[in-house]
Amino acid sequence: MYKIAIVPGDGIGKEVMSATLEVLDGLNLDLKYEYGEAGDECFKKNGVALLDETINIIRNSDACLFGAAGETAADVIVKLRQIMNLFVNLRPIKSYPGTDSLFNDLDFIIVRENTEGMYVGKEEYIEEGAIAKRIITREASERICNFAFKYARDNNKKKVTAVHKANVLKKTDGLFKKVFYEVANEYPDIETEDYYVDATAMYFLTRPQSFDVIVTTNLFGDILSDEGAGLVGGLGLTPSGNIGKSNALFEPVHGSAPDIAGKCLANPTAMLLSAVMMLKYLNEQKSAKLLNDAIYNVLNEGKCLTPDMGANSSTMEMAKEIKNKLLEKS
Ligand code: NAI
Ligand code: MG
Repeated sequence: MYKIAIVPGDGIGKEVMSATLEVLDGLNLDLKYEYGEAGDECFKKNGVALLDETINIIRNSDACLFGAAGETAADVIVKLRQIMNLFVNLRPIKSYPGTDSLFNDLDFIIVRENTEGMYVGKEEYIEEGAIAKRIITREASERICNFAFKYARDNNKKKVTAVHKANVLKKTDGLFKKVFYEVANEYPDIETEDYYVDATAMYFLTRPQSFDVIVTTNLFGDILSDEGAGLVGGLGLTPSGNIGKSNALFEPVHGSAPDIAGKCLANPTAMLLSAVMMLKYLNEQKSAKLLNDAIYNVLNEGKCLTPDMGANSSTMEMAKEIKNKLLEKS
C-alpha cells in the first residue's frame, strides 16, 4: 500500500487531478489517497494558501500528486519545494506521437535546481526601485550536478550540459559552473559541455536533438522548461517531478489556466505523465509502463483528444479512453 497525498489546487488543477485519479483506478495498485488543500481557494477559505495540515499530509506520504495553484503559486508550490527540500525539479522534454509538435524526435530532460537561485524570495524595495537576491550555494550546486550526472548514468544518457550565464553573473554562476566541472570529474564516462542560457534558448529551436541532460539553476530551468514544452506540443503535455531526500511531489508544468478552467477543456496528459513519473519513483515499473503505453496509445490514435490537440473530447472523456486502454491490457 502507498500513501499518496493529493493536492488538486485551483482551476484546471482540479480537473486534471480527477481525470488522473479516474485513470489510476484502472491499475492494479493499492493507493491510499489523503487530500490536502492549497492555492487561491484555500486562501479565500482559510486565510492562508498552504495549510500546515497539507504540509504534514505531504510529508507523511510516499509521494504527492499536485494539480496547480493560481495566483498564490509562489506561496504554495515554490514554498513546498523549499520547505520540503525538494531540491530537484525533473522536467522531461519528449516528443509524443500524434501531437502537433515542432519536433518529433526529442527526448531530453531538464534537471532544474529547485530551492535557491532567483526564487529564494529575497526581494526588497529600495529608494530607486526594488532589488532581488540571487543565491547560489556550493552545497546546492553540488547536489544538483551530482543528481544530473547520476541520472545520466542510470538512464543511459551520454551527455550532461550545464546552462548558466557565468560571463555576466561571475560570482554566482561562476561558482555553479566551477562546481559542475568538479562533479563532472567523478563521472568520466559521461560527456560534458556548458552553454550560456541565451545561446541555449536559441539551440532549443535550432538543434534541440543535441541535448541529453541539462542541469541549470532555478530561474533558467523554469524558463527553458516552458520553452521545451513549446517544442513538443505545449503545456498540456509536459510533466514534472520535484524530488528530495525523503519526499517527492509530481505535477504538470502548467498552471491553473484560468482561461479554460471549468470548461472541461484541459488536457489531462501532463498530469497523467506526472503520475507515470511518480510510479517510476515508487519503483512500480510495470504499472508505470502500462500507464505510459495507454497514454501513448490514445495520443497515437488521435481520436479522443482535448481541443488543444485538435480534437473535441473533454478532459474526462480522454481520461476514460486512456483507462479503457489500460483495462484492455491488464
Ligand atoms: P498556465 O500554464 O496556467 O497557462 C498557459 C497557457 O497554456 C494558457 O493558455 C492555458 O490555457 C494553456 N494550458 C495550460 N495547461 C493546459 C492544459 N492542461 N490543457 C490545455 N491548455 C493548457 O500559465 P499562466 O496562464 O501563466 O498562469 C495561470 C495561473 O497559474 C497563474 O495564476 C499562475 O500563477 C499559476 N501557475 C501555477 C503553477 C503551478 O502551480 N505549478 C505554474 C505556472 C503558473
Ligand atoms: Mg514555470
